[in-house]
Amino acid sequence: MTTESSVRAFAPGRVNLIGEHTDYTDGLVLPMTIHLGTTVTADVGGDRVSLASRNEPEPVDLPRQVPTDPDALAALRPEWARFVGAAIAHVRPARGLHGVVTSTMPIGAGLSSSTSLAMAVTLALGFEGSAHELALTVQSVEQAASGVPCGIMDQLVAAAARPGTALLIDCRSLATEPIRLPGDVQVLVVDSGQPRRLMHSAYAARRAECEAAARIIGPLRDAVPGAERAITDPAVRRRARHVIGENARVRAFAAALAAGDAAEAGQIMTAGHRSLRDDFEVSTPTLDDTVAELMATPGVLGARLTGAGFGGCVVALTRPGVTVASRRHWIVQPAGPAWREQAATSGRAAAPSWPRTPHR
Ligand code: GLA
Repeated sequence: MTTESSVRAFAPGRVNLIGEHTDYTDGLVLPMTIHLGTTVTADVGGDRVSLASRNEPEPVDLPRQVPTDPDALAALRPEWARFVGAAIAHVRPARGLHGVVTSTMPIGAGLSSSTSLAMAVTLALGFEGSAHELALTVQSVEQAASGVPCGIMDQLVAAAARPGTALLIDCRSLATEPIRLPGDVQVLVVDSGQPRRLMHSAYAARRAECEAAARIIGPLRDAVPGAERAITDPAVRRRARHVIGENARVRAFAAALAAGDAAEAGQIMTAGHRSLRDDFEVSTPTLDDTVAELMATPGVLGARLTGAGFGGCVVALTRPGVTVASRRHWIVQPAGPAWREQAATSGRAAAPSWPRTPHR
């Protein structure tokens, strides 16, 4: 292979502070990126995309022109080749890659390791476009690769985050607003120890129930609390009650942060967990125990499961210095967006090629 240049692309993971299972019904979410993420370092050139991974036993080796139909994608092995294959199908790169994927993320812990892999590969393949275009492209890549009808939250925060702020996202307009955290709090992410499977059917089933609710009472984003009482199916009614309440909680949480009222923000998070447990039914006994353990820890203001649920991590808002001895955890600060740098093989210094200017 003739190497034309080299590329390094990074995409961060994320933790969602509030706004769970609201993105795929055009609702509100408030995630932030974290310092953990996935990096692709590669030589650019040739006709194949060959990537080894420090986290995977088998490398991926695919032609630069992969078949794009879903069956061909689903047949790719090893499993992570589906993400690379779907990224190739969406970017249609002019040149191949030969390189390595490294990740500092816990895989399958609900911190968006799959978005970070798909986005880092998409950028390394030469994606050009705005932050919104990158997010929408990577959402399609992930849906094609995993079969999970995920929303836009994970991809948009990874593409459009601003360092030092969480991001309030309106998933209908895709407008984003940076939100500062008060100085007297920290965000603590705690691994429940229960590996998360994005149980395809359960996530898709929740999405279908939300769509069923919307057919009865109209867009959940526009529904007022109590509107769900018109729904006769009790499960569908509970799903709608969660989503309607959760959108209100996102607004209240953002307002509490703006007012510097961290105690109120914490209580809103804990109320969000109860709703995910009782109404949306995506928690597990292990996640509930982790939340309870945190809430019994001095200095913890609020805690909830983060991400899709069914296992993975809990996020807590705490006073500075709080840690948990018994479980793997990270104190996280709002990090920046995904980026890419490229260098000619002549040895010129790497130059940023994405993002070039602040994206809106
Ligand atoms: C997963 C999906 C997101 C979102 C969350 C739940 O992370 O990828 O789009 O739906 O679950 O809030």
